[in-house]
Amino acid sequence: MQTKPAIEQLTPYKVKDVDYTIKLDANESANYLFKDGIDLSDIDINFYPDTNSTFLRETLGAYFDMSADNLMVGSGSSELIELIIKTYIAPGEKVLSFAPSFTMYEVYTTIHNGSYETLPVESDMSFDIDKLIEKANEINPKLIILCTPNNPTGYQTPKEQIKKLIDNTDALILLDEAYMDFTDGSSSFLRETPFYDNLIVARTFSKAFGLAGARLGYISAGLPIIKSLLKVKTPYNVNALTQNLGIQALKKKPLVVDYINDVIARREALKISLKDLGLTVYPSRANFLFVESPLKALDKRLLTYGILVRNFAEFNEGFYRISVGDQSQNKALISALKEILS
Ligand SMILES: Cc1ncc(COP(=O)(O)O)c(C=O)c1O
Repeated sequence: MQTKPAIEQLTPYKVKDVDYTIKLDANESANYLFKDGIDLSDIDINFYPDTNSTFLRETLGAYFDMSADNLMVGSGSSELIELIIKTYIAPGEKVLSFAPSFTMYEVYTTIHNGSYETLPVESDMSFDIDKLIEKANEINPKLIILCTPNNPTGYQTPKEQIKKLIDNTDALILLDEAYMDFTDGSSSFLRETPFYDNLIVARTFSKAFGLAGARLGYISAGLPIIKSLLKVKTPYNVNALTQNLGIQALKKKPLVVDYINDVIARREALKISLKDLGLTVYPSRANFLFVESPLKALDKRLLTYGILVRNFAEFNEGFYRISVGDQSQNKALISALKEILS
C-alpha cells in the first residue's frame, strides 16, 4: 500500500546499533534521582491513567509557581512538538527554524505536509534574530521554532532577542527549552507564556532530570492555545508509571540543582581539555559541547575506544556533538582523543 506522498522521502529514526562502553551521543544524564530504585507500589495499573495528568501538572505548577492550567504534559517533549505542528500546520504552511537545530522539527513538519524552511546559524553558531525576523516577514511562516540553548550547538539566545522576535512577528513561536535547566533560567519564557497569544515553551525531563527512558515532557502556553491542543492530544498520552515518576522527581529539587551545577563544572573543564588538544569548541549552555576537528570521522575513531559521540557531517564535515560525561568518562574521552590526535 502506498503511503501518503510526504512519508515516501522519510527514513526511520535511527539509533546507532554499535557496541560501546561510554555513551556521549544523545545528551542524556546519569540516573541520579532514582539510583536506589523506584517505588511504584501506589499505582492502579489496571485502570487507564488520568488523561489530563492533573496531579503531575499541579506538582509542576507548584514547582514553577504557575497555574497547572497553562501546562500540558506529554510522552517526551517530542510528542508535544509534534502535537503543536499537527494542530497548527495545514498542508503547505511553513515552519521556520535555524539550521542546524533539533532534527525532529523537520520530520514532524514533513509528516504533516508542512514546508520546513531554515536560516543558517552564524559562523560562531549564534542566531541572528534580525535575519530571522526579516526571513519571517518575507516567507510568512505559521510557526517559528527556536531552540534555546540550541541542540546541537549549545548557543543560548539572549532574552531580549527572543522578546524582539515575539514583538516582530505574527507567527506562533515555539521556544524549545529542552536544555534550559542547565542555565540560570533567566532567559526562559516558561512562566511568561500566559501573557502572550502566540508563544509556547517546551521542556523535558529527559535531560537535566535524567529520565529520558520514562518519556516525559511538558509545555506551557496561554489558555486558548492549551484549549486547541487538547482537542488533538491523544487520550491517556502519559502512562501512569511516568506520571507518578514525574511527581516523585519534582520532589527532589535539591538533588537536581546539585546535579546541574556539577554538569556545568564538568562541561567547562571538558571544554578546556578539548581546547588544549587543539579542537575548536563553541560556547555551550547545555549538557554537551559542539566541537570542530580537522579530523573527519572522529566518531568512528572514538568508537574503537568504545566511546560514542554524534557526528554532524550533515551540517558540516568535521563537526561533532559530545555529551558531557561523568568525570571518568570525560577522562577516558580526553585520553582517547590524545592518542587519536597525536
Ligand atoms: C532540543 C530538543 N528538543 C526536544 C527533544 C526531545 O526530548 P524528549 O526526550 O522530551 O522527547 C530533544 C531530545 O534530544 C532535544 O534535543
